[in-house]
Amino acid sequence: MKLDNSTTNNLYIKASKIMEAAYVPYSKFKVGAAILDENDNYHVGCNVENAAYPIGNCAEASAISSMIISKGTKIIAIAVTGYGDMLCTPCGGCRQRIREFSSLNTPIIIGNEKKIQKIFTLNDLLPYSFGPENLNN
Ligand code: THU
Repeated sequence: MKLDNSTTNNLYIKASKIMEAAYVPYSKFKVGAAILDENDNYHVGCNVENAAYPIGNCAEASAISSMIISKGTKIIAIAVTGYGDMLCTPCGGCRQRIREFSSLNTPIIIGNEKKIQKIFTLNDLLPYSFGPENLNN
């Protein structure tokens, strides 16, 4: 799917802004995520850590929860942002979470605090993936 520039920028800006709200007393690594759904609604999320480390939430998971609460069912595109020069690509678990509500060509926009760095598709990040269709055979 080809996104227009203003949608791409909106997603990036929304992810960058919500990144500041992250609760990260342990890693100090803030992550933001923004989703555009099939109803043209935007949903944002940030990471929320916990003193019991493994139960912390990733930014993408928070944004997906927000989409579901608002009755969105499809991720048209998602932006994920973090600080620094390395690409803040979704973790393995979040790639699978995104997969649940995406197409193989759904854009995943990756940026840092300064700019959009790279745009992947879901299939770039999670090739040969397992998804809901696998259960319908
Ligand atoms: N994190 C995310 O929020 N999303 C990802 O896809 C990668 C990792 C968070 C989890 C944790 O709060 C911090 O980044 C460091 O791993």
